[in-house]
Amino acid sequence: MKIKNAEMLKVAVKKEQYPKEGPIEIALAGRSNVGKSSLINTLVNRKKLARTSSQPGKTQTINFYSINNDEFRLVDLPGYGYARVSMKEREKWGKMIENFLTSRRTLAEVILLLDIRHSPGEHDKMMYNWIKSFGYNGIIIATKADKISKGKWMKHKSIIAKALGVQNRELIIPFSATKRLNKEKVLNLIEEIIKV
Ligand code: GTP
Ligand code: MG
Repeated sequence: MKIKNAEMLKVAVKKEQYPKEGPIEIALAGRSNVGKSSLINTLVNRKKLARTSSQPGKTQTINFYSINNDEFRLVDLPGYGYARVSMKEREKWGKMIENFLTSRRTLAEVILLLDIRHSPGEHDKMMYNWIKSFGYNGIIIATKADKISKGKWMKHKSIIAKALGVQNRELIIPFSATKRLNKEKVLNLIEEIIKV
């Protein structure tokens, strides 16, 4: 899959603010700081299209990116598990994400991002189960793969697979935004998704 162009289409919190449903959308879910926004930048070859930060909690809205003149869209979601906000604030974010995920008819896949170094937490498990229960493939991108040696990827994939009960380990893809590792693999997957 070739990325010819990418642009920010819409920033939304409420349903009324979502862009009109059009082409297929692929959403990126995962805890704060896992690398959702960085993944988008790497895939589309843009350093600062999606705003990133070393501080968790950077993305606080649902951000829609239109790719290849709206051939498909990537949707950057706010991360969960961000501790430094009040309970009420966290609930609000949860609702915002849930509303989107449960109402968006053009949503073709929700990709879960996990840090390759850590075993999945409670929120990750919930999110994965939710994704599977809605009939999505359950593709997992194991981010920050540059932080461990390639020889250890298998072992970490295995930890993730066991913790989440992933049957097909091919669906767990080590990825690095900084080193661009497995970028083509992720783009090929996206191509498969939008072909359906
Ligand atoms: P929220 O918006 O808070 O939900 O976070 P996010 O998931 O969008 O994370 P973001 O892309 O902002 O990245 C968080 C931090 O991790 C930044 O400092 C990134 O530079 C760093 N980061 C992201 N991906 C990678 C990676 O593949 N390798 C390394 N080494 N660092 C990464
Ligand atoms: Mg972000």
